[in-house]
Amino acid sequence: MRSFRTLRLSLRFIIPLFIALTILAYAVVPLVGKLTLRWFVRDMDIRSQLIANTLHDPFVDLLRQGNKAKINALLLNVIRDERLLALGFCNEDGKLLYSTPNFPESLTCSSVALRDKETGPVFRLPKGSVHVALYPMDQDRLQQGSLILVHDMSFVERRSADTRKYIVMLFVLIGVVISVITVFVAYLSWRGWMDGVRAILRGEGILQPFKKPAVASEFQPLVGDLRILLRTFDAERRFADDATITWSPDSLRKLLHKQLAGERIIVVSNREPYIHIRGEGEIEVNRPASGLVTAVEPVMRACSGTWIAHGSGTADRETVDRHDRVQVPPEHPEYTLRRIWLTREEENGYYYGFANEGIWPLCHTAHVRPIFRSSDWQQYIAVNQRFADAVAEEAVSDDPVVLVQDYHFALLPKMIRQKLPRATIITFWHIPWPNPESFGICPWHEELLQGMLGSTILGFHTPFHCKNFLATVDRYLETRIEYESSTISRAGKLTMVESYPISIQWPSPWQETQPSVPECRNGVRDSLGLDAGHLVGIGVDRQDYTKGILERFRAVENMLKRHPEMIGHFTFIQIAAPTRSVLEEYAAFENQVRDLADRINQRFSTGSWQPIRLKVEHHDPEVVNRYYRAADVCMVTSLHDGMNLVAKEFVAARDDEQGVLVLSRFTGAAHELHEALIVNPYHIEQTADALYRALTMPDFEQRERMCNMRALVRDFNIYRWAGRMLLDAARIRQREKLAMRINHTS
Ligand code: G6P
Repeated sequence: MRSFRTLRLSLRFIIPLFIALTILAYAVVPLVGKLTLRWFVRDMDIRSQLIANTLHDPFVDLLRQGNKAKINALLLNVIRDERLLALGFCNEDGKLLYSTPNFPESLTCSSVALRDKETGPVFRLPKGSVHVALYPMDQDRLQQGSLILVHDMSFVERRSADTRKYIVMLFVLIGVVISVITVFVAYLSWRGWMDGVRAILRGEGILQPFKKPAVASEFQPLVGDLRILLRTFDAERRFADDATITWSPDSLRKLLHKQLAGERIIVVSNREPYIHIRGEGEIEVNRPASGLVTAVEPVMRACSGTWIAHGSGTADRETVDRHDRVQVPPEHPEYTLRRIWLTREEENGYYYGFANEGIWPLCHTAHVRPIFRSSDWQQYIAVNQRFADAVAEEAVSDDPVVLVQDYHFALLPKMIRQKLPRATIITFWHIPWPNPESFGICPWHEELLQGMLGSTILGFHTPFHCKNFLATVDRYLETRIEYESSTISRAGKLTMVESYPISIQWPSPWQETQPSVPECRNGVRDSLGLDAGHLVGIGVDRQDYTKGILERFRAVENMLKRHPEMIGHFTFIQIAAPTRSVLEEYAAFENQVRDLADRINQRFSTGSWQPIRLKVEHHDPEVVNRYYRAADVCMVTSLHDGMNLVAKEFVAARDDEQGVLVLSRFTGAAHELHEALIVNPYHIEQTADALYRALTMPDFEQRERMCNMRALVRDFNIYRWAGRMLLDAARIRQREKLAMRINHTS
């Protein structure tokens, strides 16, 4: 195929070359004929002169003697020469006195004399051309007549014809040689060019300008231009996509249909979106308190497909079919949940051990030491492999779109890539990424990075996390990194590292059914025995040491201390979903939270009023939503958080455009929700000041801030998060398909 294309290309040069050579040959051959004839005539002239000079004296002597016999004998003797055809002698009166037998009849003394002067020495006779020369024979300066020498010219014609033939052959040979060279050069440059184009398509050279160029030097200017073009195009395209699409479940579905040919996507996460629990007598369905589930579940409902997750509920096995699948949401099924069963040993090693005692504290700068055990690592590998097997089982094509979620599956992208080399793997890391030094603490840091680089796209919440990741890869792995376009190339495979700030469903799923804000306010206050004008603050978290719950309580304490007028008029409700309680660190943290709440409550409580209401139990999202709507202030004081969706959920819940958000600067959300009161949770007084300011903020300021934040959450909702990743994936798939086509056709 490649040779055929080369030949076709070369013909574009060869055909004009042959036309030019033919025209040249037509022009040159007659010229060469004339030239060779002139040379031969001159030779004949010299030859004739020589013969005439040699004959002169003996001939004139014989003439004087009048010895006709001897004259004839002399002439006959001379014409033995093979080229000399005939000799003749004309006297002064123009009469042919002597001639050899084959002297051409058509030649006469007068015609020869005349012709010699006017048109040159060549005569065309019926039997062919002859060269005729006339030389005077004189004695004692008295001319006796002229000797006529007739040379056969047929050999000249023969030679001219030969010359013409050789010239034509020469031209043909030149044409053939040039053509062969052309085809060869075209083949080499086509191959080089195609390799260059292929390298460019792979992003080599464009994506790595600082290291050894992957494409030939002649492509470097082109690569430079392409680089600028791609960047401009990418920025414009992203801007256009983001600006023109109103992101909703519908637009996400359309995108999948149009850009990804209706691909059913496969999501992999540890936590399942619906947990079946055996309650008293009947099976209940729980929605876990997980930012990941909050974000990804609406995307799955919009896209359908299969979600693979750990079946951790007590009634999970009872609710699946024989393939371990169950259709969800239970009340209105829209996608498939495929459950993976883990043994206690696997769960301890992979989930509690390696993921939550190792990677979780490693990535969160919350001053809890990570613990790494070899046995946990082995379980982590084994469980990742089990999920990779499940992905291969669930895939209906050899190039599925797989969305891998979070730090439980750092090895999974590479494992999926080994089973399904053509898969488009989008990995999203829901937690922060630390600096290279911190990450290097993990004994298996290289293996984790290698695993993650099996991804087509690797997503983080913020550009800062992307930067940290690139720096970590640069520190520990042999790769080629393009910082400008945030791309890593390793073993011929490209991973795009991009920030996709995660978000929530918009409009809120309870938009239609939720009680009004006054109803929620009254409901919550009534349930706590508080009067209608009582100020309420809310905190909603998994009970995790990264969430800054202790710092939050201390800020409440500090505020009450410095603003005693608030005592008895403000209550802080902390909803704390129990989480990972099996782990020592979490169990200890739960106790610390409880103890601190008790201490603060003891310090300030009056009558039945307590400043902190700690609710350590699972709350359904609808219930949490009511608390958001009832509160005057929401406190998010994480010590380190990838995004923190509680902040966005609070904003989405407040369609009355009231309420104030106090937000830790160490959350991803702080990079987006600028109208929140941004605090450093380690600075207790500052956080207490912000709380007080929130509780005393005028309505109009609350409205202004809330309006802006709501506009941002509306526009940058969860469908946009997924849509941007899927659009990028579609673009990469198209580029890979194009590269494959070029590979096939060349
Ligand atoms: C939060 C984090 C996620 C994480 C999840 C795990 O939502 O943002 O990154 O996956 O917690 O919670 P779990 O209860 O499943 O351990």
